[in-house]
Parts: sequence; C-alpha cells; structure tokens
Amino acid sequence: MKDTQLHELLQQMTTNEKAEQMSQVVSMLVQSHSETGKITGPIAAMDVAKEDMSKSGSILGASGAKTLKQIQKNYMERHRLNIPLLFMADVIHGYKTVFPVPLALGCSWDLSAVEKSAEIAAKEASAAGLHVTFSPMADLVRDPRWGRVMESTGEDPYLNSEFARAFVRGYQGEDLEQDTDRIAACVKHFAAYGASEGGRDYNTVDMSERQLREYYMPAYEAALEEGAEMVMTAFNTVDGIPATSNRHLMRTVLRNELKFNGVLISDWGAVQETVPHGVAANNREAALKSALAGVDIDMMTPCYKQHLTSLVDSGELSEAVLDEAVLRILQLKQKLGLFDHPYRGADEKREEQLILSDEHRTKARELAAKSSVLLKNDGVLPLNTTQRVALIGPFTDSTDLLGRWAIFGEPADVVTLKTGLTKQLTAVETAAGCDIESITDAQISEARKTADNADVIILALGEPSELSGEAGSKTDIRLSEAQMHLVRSMRELNKPIITILFNGRPLDLRGILDESDAIIEAWFPGTEGGHAVADLLTGAANPSGKLTMSFPYTVGQIPVYYNAFKTGRPKEDLDPNDRYASKYMDAPNEPLFPFGFGLSYSEFTYGDARLSSNDLQPGGSLELSVDVKNTSGITGEETVQMYIRDLVGEVVRPVLELKGFEKIRLEPGEAKIVTFSIHEDLLKYHHHDLAYKADSGDFIASVGTDSQTLQHLRFSYKTHSSVTETVLEERYT
Ligand code: BGC
Repeated sequence: MKDTQLHELLQQMTTNEKAEQMSQVVSMLVQSHSETGKITGPIAAMDVAKEDMSKSGSILGASGAKTLKQIQKNYMERHRLNIPLLFMADVIHGYKTVFPVPLALGCSWDLSAVEKSAEIAAKEASAAGLHVTFSPMADLVRDPRWGRVMESTGEDPYLNSEFARAFVRGYQGEDLEQDTDRIAACVKHFAAYGASEGGRDYNTVDMSERQLREYYMPAYEAALEEGAEMVMTAFNTVDGIPATSNRHLMRTVLRNELKFNGVLISDWGAVQETVPHGVAANNREAALKSALAGVDIDMMTPCYKQHLTSLVDSGELSEAVLDEAVLRILQLKQKLGLFDHPYRGADEKREEQLILSDEHRTKARELAAKSSVLLKNDGVLPLNTTQRVALIGPFTDSTDLLGRWAIFGEPADVVTLKTGLTKQLTAVETAAGCDIESITDAQISEARKTADNADVIILALGEPSELSGEAGSKTDIRLSEAQMHLVRSMRELNKPIITILFNGRPLDLRGILDESDAIIEAWFPGTEGGHAVADLLTGAANPSGKLTMSFPYTVGQIPVYYNAFKTGRPKEDLDPNDRYASKYMDAPNEPLFPFGFGLSYSEFTYGDARLSSNDLQPGGSLELSVDVKNTSGITGEETVQMYIRDLVGEVVRPVLELKGFEKIRLEPGEAKIVTFSIHEDLLKYHHHDLAYKADSGDFIASVGTDSQTLQHLRFSYKTHSSVTETVLEERYT
C-alpha cells in the first residue's frame, strides 16, 4: 500500500474507528499473557470481550503463530475497512530462548553478541506472529532498590546508548518490510523512569532539565537515531507532570527536537493514571491531555475508546490530533507489510524449527557465560574436574533462572545448575541447605553431611525472580537471613566455598563476600543458565563480564554510582580525620564493587598508557594507547575502558565518564595495543543554558580495567571560540 492510499484510508474512517486504532487491549481472553496472569491497572473498567478485539487497533501480549493468525483473520473479516491488527508484546531478553536479563547482558560489554540475542529474539517472536517488542528499556539506573534495574543495561549513559543501538539493530535489521524475521522496537520508558525516588516503583521523578538531558536522555536518543519505530511513555512525572500527559516532553522534546515521527504508546494504564496523579479530574480529561501531548496509543485503559470521539464532537479536541496519530499507526502497519501480508512472519513450521533451536541455545549459553561477573576468586576457580563438589542452596536445581520479563519463556526448558554441573563433573552431591526464606536444623545437617564428603562447596544462592522486575522494589538488598545462615554454617567446615548468585539487582554482599573464596554473579542467566555457569566453574568458559552498575557497600549509600560529582569537601583531598569532609561515619564512600569491575581466570597486564599529544586541536584528535598483555596461561577476554574527566567546567563535571571501551581476546602470552581516539565530541556536555558543547581547558584521559583501576593522562583542549575570546581579551587589555 502506498502513502496516498493510507491517506485515503484515513479519510474513510469514522472518528470512532480512529479512536479504536488508538487503543490497545490485552489478549487475556484469548490467551494467558502475563507472568502472573493478573491484570493490573484500570482494565476492570474496560469492556474487553472477545468481540471487542475488533475495537482496538493492536493487541498486547498474545503470541503463537496459530493463535495470532486466527485472531488476525477474525479481526480482518469483521473490520469494515480491512485494517490489520498489530501484535505487540514484551520480548525483553529473548522469546522462548531466554537470554540473561538486560542488566546481565550489559555486563558482557559485547555489543555484537547482544545484537545477535535481539536478532534471535526477533526471529522467534516474528515466527510466533509478533510485530513489535516493548524493548529496549533504555532507562538509566542508579538505585538497586528499584526492581527494574534488571531491565536496564546499567548506570552509564554512554554504555546504555551503545546497547540501546545494538538492541534496535538486532530487532529491526535493515528493512522491516522485507525482512519478516525482524520486528519493530519500542524504546521505553520516556523519560527518566529509572530515577523513581527512593527506588520505589511508579514513584515521582524530579530532576533538572540539564540532568535529564545529560544523563537520562542519551540512551533513548541513541535508540531513536538507530531507527526505533516506537516509543513508550513512562509512568513517572517529569518536572511535575506525568510523562504521559507531558506536552513539553512529548511534543517539544520528543517530536520537535528529537524528530521522532513514529508511534508513541502510553505505558500500561498510564493515560488513566493521570487521574490519581492529580493532573486530570477524570478519564475524559485524562484522554484529552494525553492526546494533546501526542500519545498515539492508549495501552489498556478505556480513556481513548470512551472519550476521544465525544471530545472531538464537542470541539475540545481537533480531529487533526487523531488523524496525526492514526496516520502514524497506519504507517507502522504499512512498514511492517501488514496490509499486504497480515500474518507477516507467523508460521507454525518456522516456529517449531526456530524456537529453542540448538543454534539459539548455544548463543544463549555463550552470552550467559559472558554476562556473568567473577567478583572474587582466591584461587579456588576454575575447578578441577576430579574435585568432589557439594552443590548446596535453594538455586541448586531451580528453574527460576529466567528472571522477570521472560513472559514466553518456560521454566521447563531451563537447564538448572545441577543439570549443567553434573554433565561436566563426575562427583557432584547436592543438598537444599535451606529454602529461599527459611532454614531448618534438618536442612543444615543434611548440607553438612553432603559437604563432609566434598573437596569444595558450591553455594547456589539468590533472590527469587519475583523480587525484582516491575513493582519489585525493596529497601533491603541483602540475601535472606536463611541463606546467610547457611553460608555461616558452611564456613564452619573450613572448606573452600564458591558462591553463585542468581538475582536481578546489585546486592549488599556483606555476610557473603568474606565468607566465600570465590563469587560468581550469574544474575538471571536465562534458559541455558545451568550450562553457562557450569562452563565458568570448570573453566570451559573464562569469565569476562564486568559490572555496569555499582554494588553498594550498604543500602545506606544508595545512590552510589561511578560518574558522580566531586563535592566542595572531597574526602580524598582532606585529612582522613576531618569531620567536615563529605563522607559517612559508618561506611566508606566507595561502593563494594565499582562500575566496570570483573575478574578473569587470565591475568592481564597493562603497559604504560600514552597520548599522541597533550594538546587537542579543534577538529583534531588524540590517540590514547595502551599495551595489554595476557600474562597467564589461559586465553581470555578483557574489556579495556577509557574515561575522560573535564577538570574545570561551567557546571560541575563528573569525576569520570566512560567514553570508549574495547573488548579484546588474548591468547596466553599475547599482547595487543588498544587505541582510543579522543576528539571534541567526547568533551561535550550540556551547559547551564542547555547548550551542548565542549569547553577549552584541561582534561584527564584515563584507561584501565575498571573505573577504579586506571592510569591517568592529562591533555588540554582549546576551542575555536576560546581562541577568539583570548584574542579579544588581549586586544582590550
Ligand atoms: C511495563 C512496560 C511494559 C508494559 C506492557 C508495563 O506495566 O511498565 O514496561 O512494556 O507493561 O506489558
């Protein structure tokens, strides 16, 4: 269908039909769609019945080629104008082949592997009939109390931007119309959802516009630059107005400045939630305000369906607002080729061949190993295959390795740690040790007995997946007392302890760290988790993951992130006993594990870093180089990180900012020179008046293995404008 035909189609539509295109309902009555099977939000008021499917332009959460083809067929047969439905769902870290949660994927620092995971997710989802995924979540996160940190790639705007791009490329490919193995991406949650106060989900966000643009916006912008077809609004307020009815945010920033022409969808129930927020008196006003803000689709509330037509009839809302939104929705349907091929990629045979294929499982296994982070190793890892192992703890044989937002993943397809490890080691004895939240004397004595026969104890611990993800906020981010008790009891046996952690957020690891000889943060590693962790334990895979979110020393430090400002009373510059320094009395300022940290079985030695010059000229570049050598006997991968610090800015500048990284693979004894190019763009930031530019002055370029282990080199930069300023100053003095 051509563009002109879309306009003709639009002209034939009644106002009511337009409002229907602008509403999305869940597939609940056709198929169970969600993790909990529970409908949240204001659905109760919505008259969703099977026949009402024909009254919305898109469906949320249904999947399966056969089902979706049937729904599409019924829908189109009944639709007066034959407009096909869009099928959208949360395919966040895999469809049926579930990859690690996004926070873990971030820790891989492997953009092409993550792009591949999104491509695989798209392929499986498309064969199952889906057209759009509500991913990537590009929210910057700094608060591990917030359950949704697991859906982000972490606390750094640059890294999040790179990953947002990789996800979009993987989902969408080059050409959505031709390539039916791909699906459209919807970047979310615009904007700043990750900054919910106190880490409590759905809570207020309030920050300066400068902070919003400098730290929170870049990853959404990157996804849009990469061509993401859709954007989802956030639940939170932005400068006092809920994002979903925030005209400035959506019209001025998203549409005008960022030039976004695609479909803007509300988050689940968010249009109606402007009523309890207190910026709309009722559903009618909620519909009016969100439509005026430019929200094209109302997800799961009756507001648009029930009120748009009468708002137009009464003259409160111009029909042009609806036309603009509906045209965008039709254009997306056209881009996906749905007018010509309403079933698109839906194909039962392909679904069967592709889903959980060996190739997909292999990729999931590799990526799960790359996403795990070795936090500690006193030499006990990797295991020797003849060692006798006692595998103990509530995650020993758990299928709860998928993590939240794996709504199509099946626990039955999960490879547990026990299964994975017993394939690779000959002597593995297991015991529960405790339940997630409770422990009995009988469990302890069984665990002790099991451990008595072993050379090494592996503790499989963690948080059940339901404790993270949406609405998974917590004030205490330690493991349960029962699990800590188990650790203490096992410690008494004086045997080496390796702790494997399965969880979706950075944890407070006091009570675990000192008691363990080695710790692997495996996150929620997905379908192939048990294989991947076993690969790491035996050395079949070498850990290479590095944290992309700081692990706080204690919850009281939160937020603690690496790219912070220096205060006027920096502890490190003052006498350590100075009471009036910026510090805590009962805890360090630094996190327990910093951003960028992660160990390997290899040893990498950094040579002296060097800069090609100490002066960066406008339009020019500097080369920062460092030799990295694998001085061990084991092949490994190292992520070399490059940071920049602006020593004096117009506004306070962060102590470090990641500006580049390279993941290299080194054979035993091999060395590589890693070179980063530094140019003006990397020095730019948002000034007080929001101008985005670089200043003249002195900078530090740092390179190293994590954000705390770096070599620092100084350079200076003089902009054209500052040259002029100096000349003028000289003339007049
Ligand atoms: C979440 C979104 C998700 C949507 C649709 C909401 O509750 O906040 O991230 O995409 O539901 O399932």
